[in-house]
Amino acid sequence: MIEIRQLHKHYDTAQGRVQVLKGIDLEVQAGSITAVVGPSGAGKSTLSHCISLLEKPSSGQILVDGKDLSILSGKALRAERRAIGTIFQNSALLRRMTVAENVALPLRNLGVVHHEMEHRVAELLERVGLADRANSYPGELSGGQRQRVGIARALALRPRLLLSDEATSGLDPEATAQILELLASLRTDLGLAIILITHEMDVVRHIADRVAQLDGGRIAEYGELRALVANPESVTGSKLLPLHPDLVPAGYDFALTVAYRGTQIDPSWISKLGSEYGATVALLGGSVEAHQEGTLGRVEIGLSGIGEARAIEVLDGWGLHATAHSQALRTDKINGETRIEVTV
Ligand SMILES: Nc1ncnc2c1ncn2[C@@H]1O[C@H](COP(=O)(O)OP(=O)(O)OP(=O)(O)O)[C@@H](O)[C@H]1O
Ligand SMILES: [Mg+2]
Repeated sequence: MIEIRQLHKHYDTAQGRVQVLKGIDLEVQAGSITAVVGPSGAGKSTLSHCISLLEKPSSGQILVDGKDLSILSGKALRAERRAIGTIFQNSALLRRMTVAENVALPLRNLGVVHHEMEHRVAELLERVGLADRANSYPGELSGGQRQRVGIARALALRPRLLLSDEATSGLDPEATAQILELLASLRTDLGLAIILITHEMDVVRHIADRVAQLDGGRIAEYGELRALVANPESVTGSKLLPLHPDLVPAGYDFALTVAYRGTQIDPSWISKLGSEYGATVALLGGSVEAHQEGTLGRVEIGLSGIGEARAIEVLDGWGLHATAHSQALRTDKINGETRIEVTV
């Protein structure tokens, strides 16, 4: 398990001290993926550099299976740093070396004997699906393939944490999907703890178990992906599955935001509101999609023929968390027309 405790990082510049990380607490269990998201300048890359110990935190701890790496230096740091494998946006391969030589580099630096090294490199390339490209040069590979070589190299020293800093940024959707599938298999098969730093919400939704929203050097929100999406008040949840609230159509009494909370939601719940409770339902917007642990969804519906409290209660019984639209949006009907006011 990886624990980050009260991590602070500042830089002293000509303009004075810049406090970038202001007390980050994060815990990543073996066999789980935590995504770190946040706006540009939030401190994501700084956090990544501190976790991989490329930079020394100003204060705080980075514990790998209980051992604090942040206080080490020199030889001890180099030895313990093996517990953390890092993959970068541009895979950072050496152009004049073959794929196999690139993957072998960390092993060579460690003085692993030749035949063991060959065996391990073959195993790693097999793992990332590139056994047949061992003798190619990075320039002969696609971006996605290069990234997989980078993953093989990061795995060479059997890390317990894999840290990915924007590893899928700039890849096309198919290559991204392959990398995500690979990361998910590493989590499950090798029991790796994975920290995924990314600005791509699609990536987070498909693969993360937990999500930390970094803002201004602090963790603004942190929790299980499912819980964040199912919480209508969660800012991160609404970024993961955005809603575009529409007007309450004329003829409907009120609107609800419905978040899928349970894992087994009857997909015909909308028609059941009609057939079992006599409601008329307008689907106003939303996203529903399959996820590893059941369906994720957030939708907006307009309703009539049923009371608001009753509708919320019925939906709750079906594993759907409904909240009145009116908390954030007030609708007024004037001459059959709908006017909408957004209060912030
Ligand atoms: N070496 C440094 N010296 C001074 N300030 C720095 C240094 N490195 C980063 N910063 C500042 O720290 C803040 C966070 O930078 P960081 O690169 O961690 O953001 P980020 O979340 O990765 O952003 P992006 O999404 O754009 O990559 C920025 O305001 C940046 O200017
Ligand atoms: Mg960055």
